[in-house]
Amino acid sequence: MSAELAIGIHDLSFATTEFVLPHTTLAAHNGTEIGKYHVGIGLRSMSVPAADEDIVTMGAAAAKPVVARHGGDRIRTVVLATESSVDQSKAAGIYVHSLLGLPSSTRVVELKQACYGGTAALQFAVGLVRRDPSQRVLVIASDVSKYELDSPGEPTQGAAAVAMLVGADPALLRIEEPSGLFTADIMDFWRPNYLSTALVDGQDSVAAYLHALDGAWKDYTEQGGRRLDEFRAFCYHQPFPKMAYKAHRQLLRNAGLDSDESLVAHHIGDTTGYNSVVGNSYTASMYLGLASLLENAQDDLSDRTIGLFSYGSGSVAEFYAGTVVPGYRAHLRVREHDEAVTRRRPIDYAGYRALHQLSLPEDGGEHAVAAQTGGPYRLAALSGHKRIYRPR
Ligand code: HMG
Repeated sequence: MSAELAIGIHDLSFATTEFVLPHTTLAAHNGTEIGKYHVGIGLRSMSVPAADEDIVTMGAAAAKPVVARHGGDRIRTVVLATESSVDQSKAAGIYVHSLLGLPSSTRVVELKQACYGGTAALQFAVGLVRRDPSQRVLVIASDVSKYELDSPGEPTQGAAAVAMLVGADPALLRIEEPSGLFTADIMDFWRPNYLSTALVDGQDSVAAYLHALDGAWKDYTEQGGRRLDEFRAFCYHQPFPKMAYKAHRQLLRNAGLDSDESLVAHHIGDTTGYNSVVGNSYTASMYLGLASLLENAQDDLSDRTIGLFSYGSGSVAEFYAGTVVPGYRAHLRVREHDEAVTRRRPIDYAGYRALHQLSLPEDGGEHAVAAQTGGPYRLAALSGHKRIYRPR
């Protein structure tokens, strides 16, 4: 473990959508026994974006309080990670940069590797801060998870954005070296440019995730990482919360530790709160897990080490450790995050289906977008193939 300058997450804020679909509504439509959703995959509801919400509006909404608290002066880089991109060329972060009024002396770039992209952005940010510790990097992970209607993936949909301010001497989490890395060229989940919904081999993707965990953990230990019993908790990428449990039981078993359920619950239990009501938010998912852990753990996590496992289909995975900074509780956003999930308006099945099937006009004309969101920013119009975002 390096004794160098501490670098990590200084602030973390998330935003989600205007609407929420309870899994009871989906189950009533498709005749699924609700236990499969509530218990089998661990989900109670999913966030559904309004017509005028997307990765830009959610990303800007997540980052707004971060910029309000810390100012934008030291932010010289904005990295937005997503697999729900709105343009093949222009980085979505440029719209966010503009909505937030950040200085022009900023580099802005978009990153992609399925759900792993947010962690790549975070690690690249750490490198930039190490090069110049006076700078801060705004990392945004923003995604809308969308599968075909009536497919097995449908109940795992969701949407959210996390904004993290990365800097030296962080207030929340110090990110440690080494990282354990794993890459394999596989097709467990993907989305060709011409499709709006992801393709997935569900059971294969679960196996691929578990295989990648083995690989990343093996590399982590070979790189000189910590022992498993040094960790207080583990944040996993959560395509659905039960995946974290499956993964953690495997990690403990393979390390020769007893996967006693009370230990598993102690390690994982506090990380699933937000994901179980938001659904899969791809790049943002693991960091919603981190927010949930920091806000919900009853014990003081100061100086305790957290293991983080990020997985992106296709596939790339990384296991790394972070140590919680004493005094972290004073910097959490418990009230705002609670409001982000409780303010969502329940939508009925017909309304959800209509939004799922909604596609924006592609004719290059002038089109106002229906005003639905109660969030701070909206996609107001399309004009000449350009997206027009406005504060609400
Ligand atoms: P499925 O085949 O419909 O469900 O889809 P199942 O039959 O496997 O059942 C799920 C669980 O519910 C099982 O538990 C059942 O026993 C249980 P398990 O055996 O797994 O412990 N169950 C019940 N429990 C209580 N009461 C009941 C009941 N009935 C059944 N009545 C699947 C499941 C995850 C495959 C599907 O939702 C899917 O395709 N999801 C999308 C893909 C996915 O999430 N993959 C995860 C790994 S890949 C990943 O994480 C990357 C990703 O985030 C994308 C990216 O990287 O960008 C997806």
